[in-house]
Amino acid sequence: MAKYRVGLGVSGGIAAYKAVEVMRALQKSGCDVSVAMTRHATEFVQPLTFRALTDKHVIVDDYDPQNPDPIAHINFSQNIDLLLIVPATANIIAKFANGVADDFLSSTYLATTAPVMIAPAMNTTMWDQAATQRNVERLRKDGVHFVLPVEGELACKTVGTGKLEDVENICRQAMALLATCDERGETGEDQSSSNVCDLKGEHFLITVGGTREAIDPVRFISNHSSGKMGFAVAEAAAARGANVTVVAGVTTVDPPANVKVVQGISAEEMHDAVMNELSKASVFIGAAAVADYAPANAADAKIKKEGRDSMTLELKKTPDILADVSRHRHDGLLVIGFAAETNDVIGYARSKMEKKGLDIVVANDITKAGAGFNTDTNIATIILRGGQKEMPLMSKRELADRILDEVVRARTS
Ligand code: PMT
Repeated sequence: MAKYRVGLGVSGGIAAYKAVEVMRALQKSGCDVSVAMTRHATEFVQPLTFRALTDKHVIVDDYDPQNPDPIAHINFSQNIDLLLIVPATANIIAKFANGVADDFLSSTYLATTAPVMIAPAMNTTMWDQAATQRNVERLRKDGVHFVLPVEGELACKTVGTGKLEDVENICRQAMALLATCDERGETGEDQSSSNVCDLKGEHFLITVGGTREAIDPVRFISNHSSGKMGFAVAEAAAARGANVTVVAGVTTVDPPANVKVVQGISAEEMHDAVMNELSKASVFIGAAAVADYAPANAADAKIKKEGRDSMTLELKKTPDILADVSRHRHDGLLVIGFAAETNDVIGYARSKMEKKGLDIVVANDITKAGAGFNTDTNIATIILRGGQKEMPLMSKRELADRILDEVVRARTS
C-alpha cells in the first residue's frame, strides 16, 4: 500500500511539464498520486500523460461526462494527505487566496482538509507584483506552505526570480511535510497552523537587538534596534524544528517561547556570549545592531557637567562579532549577516559579504517606510553568493521564513 496519497494540482504555465517529473519522483518515494489539472494546464501537457503514468482518470472538469465520479472535487479532496500544486500560476494563487472556486482545482482547494503546498512559477514581474505577493502572504497566514520560485532564465528569455524550484527540492519538501504531519498523527487533518520541520537537527545561534555601550553609570551609546527582526527569525527557526539560542542585547519586545536566551548587553559581552555558544551552532545569524565603537574608558562615577562647556568622548572599536564568527567557523557552519544601510545598500552589503566571508547577507534599506528598525515589517534583499532575491514589504516573521528557506536551500544544493 502507498505510504501517502498526494493530490497533484497542475495549473497552466510553461513549467507544467515539470509536474510530470514531480509526479514520478513522488511515486518513487512511495506516494500514490492523483492528478487534477486546470483547463489551461492541458494546453501545455496532455492529461493522457498523467493518466498513463498514474492509471487514474485525470480530473479537469467536474461536470465532464467522461468523469467517472459525479462529486469529484469532494471525493478527490477528502482522500489525499497533501494537495501539492506544481506549477502554481499567479491566477491559481489569486483564486486560492480569495476563495474563488470556479473550476475543479480551485474547488478542491476549498474542499480539502489536507495540508497544501504550492510551488509557484511565473514571470518575474508577475511574481513581484504587489497583488501576487499579497496573495502569497495571505495564503501563508492561512497555513499554506510554499516552495518558493528561484532565480534563473525564464521562458520569456528574461533572467529573474520566478523559475520553478528544482524537482528534487519540491519532492523533498513535500515528503518532509508529509512525514511531519504523519509524526503528529495529523495526515489529512486540518493543518492550518502546522509547519514543515525542515530545520530539524540544526542549531541556530542568533544575535538580536541593539547593544548598549556605557559612558558612565548613567549614560550610554545605543541604537534603535527593537529585537523584532532577530526574534522573528528565532521564532520561525524554532517553529521549523531547529534548536535556537539567542544572544540578546537591548530589546523592546519579548523573546519567543522555545528558544534559549543569553544576555549580551554591550558589544564586548555579546561577543563573549556568542563565542561561548558557537561550538554548538550549525547556523549563525547576526541580526543585532552592534555598536561599532564604544567609549574607550567608561567612567566609574557619573560625569559632572560643572565647569565643562563641551566634552569629547574617546571611542574605541568594538569586536566585530560576525567577522570573528566567520573567521573561527567550524565545518558546516553557515554564517549569515544583516546589513542596515541608508545608501548604496546592495554595494555595501556585498562588500560586507566579501570582507566578513558570509554565506548570505540580508540587506535592509532603513530609509524606506516600513523597513529597518522597530517596525513590524521589513523590505530587504537577500544576497546570496550566486545572486540576490528582492523581498518586498512583508512582516518580519514572513521575511524570517524567506531567509530560512535559503538556509534549507543552501543545505540541499
Ligand atoms: O531589531 P529591529 O528593530 O527589528 O531592527 C532590525 C535591524 C534593522 C536591526 C536588522 O534588520 C539589521 O539590519 N541588523 C543589522 C544592523 C547592523 O548593525 O548592520 P551593520 O551593517 O552595522 O552590521 C553588519 C553585520 O555585522 C550585522 O549582521 C551585525 O550584526 C554585524 N556586526 C556589526 C558590528 C559588530 N561589531 N559586530 C557585528 O557582529
